[in-house]
Amino acid sequence: MSLKKEIKILLRLLFKREYSAEIDLMEYRIPNVPVKKIINYCLIQINRFFEIPKVLGKPYKLQVEPMRGCNLKCPGCPANKKNSRQRAGPLSLELFKKFIDSTEDCALFLTLWSWGEPFLNKNLPEMIRYAKSKNIAVVTSTNANLLLNKEYNERVLKSGLDNLIVAVDGASPETYGIYRKGGDFARVVKGIRLLVSQKKKLGLEKPAINLRMVVTSYNEHEIKEIRQLAGKLGVDALTLKSVNPSLDSETVNLSLIPKNKKYHRYEFSEETGAIKKQERFKCTFPWAQTTMFSDGTIAACEADVNASVKFGNLLKESFGSIWFGRKAENFRKQFVKKKEAFRFCEKCSYRNMIIGSCTVEKVEI
Ligand SMILES: C[S@@+](CC[C@H](N)C(=O)[O-])C[C@H]1O[C@@H](n2cnc3c(N)ncnc32)[C@H](O)[C@@H]1O
Ligand code: SF4
Repeated sequence: MSLKKEIKILLRLLFKREYSAEIDLMEYRIPNVPVKKIINYCLIQINRFFEIPKVLGKPYKLQVEPMRGCNLKCPGCPANKKNSRQRAGPLSLELFKKFIDSTEDCALFLTLWSWGEPFLNKNLPEMIRYAKSKNIAVVTSTNANLLLNKEYNERVLKSGLDNLIVAVDGASPETYGIYRKGGDFARVVKGIRLLVSQKKKLGLEKPAINLRMVVTSYNEHEIKEIRQLAGKLGVDALTLKSVNPSLDSETVNLSLIPKNKKYHRYEFSEETGAIKKQERFKCTFPWAQTTMFSDGTIAACEADVNASVKFGNLLKESFGSIWFGRKAENFRKQFVKKKEAFRFCEKCSYRNMIIGSCTVEKVEI
């Protein structure tokens, strides 16, 4: 996010007590932010701006994994990889509530996914509802293969969710199936149509149903068609995201990169195709964001897929003792000294980004 945008968020918080942010080109608005959360936000900004290892407050951005494991097998995604399976399973509602209760004095924004399909967790709608009851903006993402369950859809729609990403990486069954392995294009289209009609019938303004296409070499010629599809389905938004060719931080699949540079997340070397390093990146995660995996592990970052650096586990400890604890502090100290000390930081997908946000374009439908 640019400094200008960050200052705008801060000023609105200070003078209007409103959290208003554009994240991945979608707008989020939280009115009546309690003073406690505003003070915490300011402390964390000081923290991360000066990269002070001793943390002065708590994270205002949360990332929670409702489910480790998936019904699809998208290449590169670690969700179903062998070394990720030992963590497989759903997050319990009880643990989720403990997490939200521990962060209700600081949290402004919750990303409700990590490495798996959130709609495989039967308690997802209650999780969203609970986070919303604490005045937190919530976004989740689904591969849209499970949208034919009317009762579940209705619970999600009525939960207060702000933004629901329905990830459809192609405008035809052929291109869709190249990345979304195991997915069924016809089922996805039927499911989204049903969801949109249910939202209409319920007369709801939220969630924004956000059709999302990750632009790859396989589907870049279908932008016109995906726009037409979005129009036919009656979704609220269509966003185009840059592909991360090494989602699992290990394997780089350069064949995914589209020709059109507008959709490139990185600059690539003309000779070798390798990602060119950028030096200016400053990460905010060690101070501003926390990640909880479905087994309760509080990790340094979602990119640390198998939690090689564990701050602790919420099943066994309180969030405060984990966040302010020795392990988290040691991580921040080492991080400030040398970012490359951690493999997942060295391979970070934001590190070498040449664009301000992973999502490149919001297309008018
Ligand atoms: C890892 S998925 C997990 C949630 C859900 N299973 C889904 O696919 O939407 C989270 C987000 O990552 C995006 N995504 C998947 N593969 C990607 C890639 N290679 N590069 C960039 N984004 C990707 C999806 O579009 C989705 O919105
Ligand atoms: S991107 Fe989503 S749908 Fe695809 S394998 Fe990963 S978690 Fe599953």
